[in-house]
Amino acid sequence: MTLSKHWQPDSWRNHTALQQPNYPDQNALAAVQMELSKLPPLVTSAEIQSLKRQIASAQDGKSFLLQGGDCAESFSDCESALISNRLKVLLQMSLVLVHGLRMPVVRVGRFAGQYAKPRSADLESKDGVTLPSYRGDFINGPDFTELARIPDPRRMVKGHARSAMTMNFVRSLIDGGFADLHHPEYWDLGWVSQSPQSEQYRKLVQSVGDAIRFMETISGEPAHNVNRTEFYTSHEALLLPYEESLTRQVPRQHGWFNLSTHFPWIGMRTAQLDGAHVEYFRGIANPVGVKISANVSDDHIKRLCEMLNPDNEPGKLTFIHRLGAENVEAQLPRLIRAVQSVGAKVLWVCDPMHGNTESTSNGFKTRRFDNIKAELERSFDVHAAEGSHLGGAHLELTGENVTECLGGARDLIESDLERAYRSTVDPRMNYEQSLEIAMSIVHKHGSLNSA
Ligand code: PEP
Ligand code: CO
Repeated sequence: MTLSKHWQPDSWRNHTALQQPNYPDQNALAAVQMELSKLPPLVTSAEIQSLKRQIASAQDGKSFLLQGGDCAESFSDCESALISNRLKVLLQMSLVLVHGLRMPVVRVGRFAGQYAKPRSADLESKDGVTLPSYRGDFINGPDFTELARIPDPRRMVKGHARSAMTMNFVRSLIDGGFADLHHPEYWDLGWVSQSPQSEQYRKLVQSVGDAIRFMETISGEPAHNVNRTEFYTSHEALLLPYEESLTRQVPRQHGWFNLSTHFPWIGMRTAQLDGAHVEYFRGIANPVGVKISANVSDDHIKRLCEMLNPDNEPGKLTFIHRLGAENVEAQLPRLIRAVQSVGAKVLWVCDPMHGNTESTSNGFKTRRFDNIKAELERSFDVHAAEGSHLGGAHLELTGENVTECLGGARDLIESDLERAYRSTVDPRMNYEQSLEIAMSIVHKHGSLNSA
């Protein structure tokens, strides 16, 4: 395959773009792109560069990346309580990780732009009626009606605005001291006192507080970096007309930045070497992720390193493997070795969600907590055995008390799912399951390092 050296934000148009909507009105699409290209960006190039440095430090084993949020954001979920609860659970998890791993945590949300979804089928049938699949709020609506399922480019403008509102609220909360480690009580979700993990979490909060006070006492001044926590955003950069419109050049900076998010990733279904997504991603200066499934060959992953990070720049490339608890031990070693064989510097992150999705007899898409935990633990072991290390976790979770994944300390069973199943796409861990996963990461990491 020959790659044209010439790259432009729209050069992806010369390649096959999978998973894109068929917009009925091309003029309306062009008008939306023009409008978006003038709207303010959602993030800055300085923040993007700072995240890249932090990912580089995670590559060196000096920090751990926590990436989490909804499978799909929806416009109607752009509500203050939902946003702050998600932030709270991510902050609590990161506190557990900072304390247990004894290293900084790079916090990345799956939000402020996670509105486009790849689908395994273009069409969906119900009671003899067939309609285009729902592809995320960026593209069409979830209602099973002909009108809702027509792709509407105006949805991109609305999604940009919702993303800006989400970012604005998250930034304000953080600037106002919400993420201050002196005050983890700000993140209480009310449930902590009744949760099976409450005792362990309370002790940990106490010991972090003691450590901060101790540091401040001996140094005689406030501890730095504990009252201002950075938070970054990420989404699957699936809908290329949107991403293209937010791709800009920045004064005094070299190259092109996708300013819709800090950390875009390529989904499993669109990682073809000659496809439009890889073409688009190879030209942007952001740190980028690629989801890696068991279908990715050794040659494919080596070529991804070469195409997406030809200069082997630190912090640039992250592989998010999602192999499934059953496959991870068989597939991960060859992928690690392939990357090692070309000397590529990457961050390895485990997504223990997408390889473990199943359907229950009562028709729910779900995931078992034990499989999520097992895939993470096995990933830690495989990396250690291969002379590599697992540097992060990519999770679908929410701060709400949903019942979408089975198991966990409360041992949710199939009949619990109908009680509070709210996801329109994939099942998420609820707050308790999320905290439990953070604790199990710490436990596994500790046992590896003391072995
Ligand atoms: C996702 O992250 O929601 C997703 C669709 O993942 P993948 O591309 O790994 O299937
Ligand atoms: Co998902």
